[in-house]
Amino acid sequence: MSMNQTFGRREFLKTAAAAAGIAGLPSLALAQGAKIKIGLMLPYTGTYAQLGVAITNGFKLAVAESGGKLGGREPEYFTVDDESEPSKATDNANKLVTRDKVDVLIGTVHSGVEMGIIKIVRESGVLHINPNAGVAAATGALCAPNIFRTSFANSQTTYPMGKVLADRGVKSVVTLTWKYAAGEEMVEGFKDGYAKGGGKILKELYLPFPSVEFQSLLTEIASLKPEAVFVFFAGGGAAKFLKDWQAAGLKGKIGLYGSGFLTDGVLDAVGGAAEGVETTLHYGDGIETPKNKTFRLNYAKTFKLQPDVYAVQGYDAGLLLAAGLKAVKGDVSKKKELIAAMEKAEIDSPRGRWKMSKDHNPIQDMYLRKVVGKENKVTGVAIKALDYPARGCKMG
Ligand code: PHB
Repeated sequence: MSMNQTFGRREFLKTAAAAAGIAGLPSLALAQGAKIKIGLMLPYTGTYAQLGVAITNGFKLAVAESGGKLGGREPEYFTVDDESEPSKATDNANKLVTRDKVDVLIGTVHSGVEMGIIKIVRESGVLHINPNAGVAAATGALCAPNIFRTSFANSQTTYPMGKVLADRGVKSVVTLTWKYAAGEEMVEGFKDGYAKGGGKILKELYLPFPSVEFQSLLTEIASLKPEAVFVFFAGGGAAKFLKDWQAAGLKGKIGLYGSGFLTDGVLDAVGGAAEGVETTLHYGDGIETPKNKTFRLNYAKTFKLQPDVYAVQGYDAGLLLAAGLKAVKGDVSKKKELIAAMEKAEIDSPRGRWKMSKDHNPIQDMYLRKVVGKENKVTGVAIKALDYPARGCKMG
């Protein structure tokens, strides 16, 4: 930068501050009416592609409902397809933070990729909102003031399912999932909830992410003859699993249960294969509130798609950011006030109103749902206001 430019910039700031009649200087970007830079790091290809699209749509719907602006500023989007590929995660996050200089990084879906984002946002201090990935460390041992989650911790979604099966006296279960952080934590949560009922886990089965080679595992399940099977799959993989389960002749013979990711966003793709499957989750299509009804109508009208839990989590990320930026009138340099406003925001979500726990994870009702036709029907509340057992978070 030349001396002239430096001088000009200083002069400009003085003038802007004087015009605003305030003691502190507003940031240059803000004074010039610059757009707020929003990084979207999500999967747009692969088994989780639909999830990335739903989150993006939900986020943009929330922005549109805030008059197209956040804290008075127009958004400018920078998008990276993270491919649900952990080995590329830090490079991808760095593109947004270092090259594009985003004000906030929104992402992602996959727990392994989230770990790469966490590294970069902890180092850079860039504001981060995670609209899906449930990895415990994100709001546990690696928590930080600039890291927020609008979704869930993995075990938070499965502990209730374990408890439901324990309460029903189900005596034997086989678990099946992808072998990576999310699958492992989902199974841990389920086992915690199930353990209290005295039932037995016959076997824990795994396959690598994102494999959909289910055949030999289904044969093994048929010979183990458990009373119930608990699974975590999502996106394209969940749709394939439900169809294979039916084709293997297990539907109706062995009870199939999961976290709600198994049946969210896939019901159109699987025909009747998911009928009757019960799951637990922090959302259900048919939640009977005016907020949910309006959200579903607006989403369907805008995107010609039915919303799902991922759309809700993206929408809530938009509401959370809007609440924070409103409090600082769009000035992201006021980090402390911005974070304080996000910490105390009460999110009027389609899932029901919720607030952040002190480690920045939603405290929320976990619904019991059952697939009826093309709907994840809410049949009850499995656990009210569940705050997952946060371990190791020290905000500093
Ligand atoms: C995760 O990797 O944390 C994850 C991915 C997809 C889901 C839920 C959790 O539906």
